[in-house]
Amino acid sequence: MATIKIAERFLDERRAAARIICAPNQIPAPGQYLLAYDPASDSPLAAPVFCAARLADGFLAAAPLPSAWTPGSTLSVRGRLGRGFHLPTNARRVLLAAHVGVSPSLLLALLEPAFAQGASVALTCDSPPEDLPAQLEIQPSSAFADLCGWADYLALAVTRESLPGLVESSGVGNPLRAVREAQIFVAVPMPCGGVAECGVCSVVSSRGFKLACEDGPVFNLTELI
Ligand code: FES
Repeated sequence: MATIKIAERFLDERRAAARIICAPNQIPAPGQYLLAYDPASDSPLAAPVFCAARLADGFLAAAPLPSAWTPGSTLSVRGRLGRGFHLPTNARRVLLAAHVGVSPSLLLALLEPAFAQGASVALTCDSPPEDLPAQLEIQPSSAFADLCGWADYLALAVTRESLPGLVESSGVGNPLRAVREAQIFVAVPMPCGGVAECGVCSVVSSRGFKLACEDGPVFNLTELI
């Protein structure tokens, strides 16, 4: 099985939870994941690992990661797995929005491709990471509804529990409708990555249940609301 190595853990996980060393072809695309476990651990439960930023010798892994994964740990991994974000090549006003209970680091891998295509990017969250590019506009979550009217692409990260009330919590008059294209990352446990069909990651969509590990964890907004 393929492996990756934890080089560093960060106390402040708002930007990333860890620095990972791996081969370039192991780095997950934005929104995709590696399913990883530590074979040397007492509780080798698998957990998804998402990219927060590409590095020359690996990547910054988004939060959260299991606390038992310490620097020097070698993890066995499967993947890259799942459906990630599809940033439209003509998007020029990109809004990243992390709702309550979800780390903004799960969206930060979109910064590099968005800036590379000349887009302006705004991030809304209540606990913003430090050390982000100066050209990124950071706003509190209360600015989300207004920025939906500005954006031509929205990447939203929410918990599964917040999905049923998402329209109501987004603001008066459903500001989500104003965005030309929107995708939503649903944060759920994904212990088997689809191999055991455990169903732990199931998400209610407009067409019945979906598995976040295979059908997501990034969905088009119209699939879910
Ligand atoms: S994580 Fe087991 S089916 Fe999705």
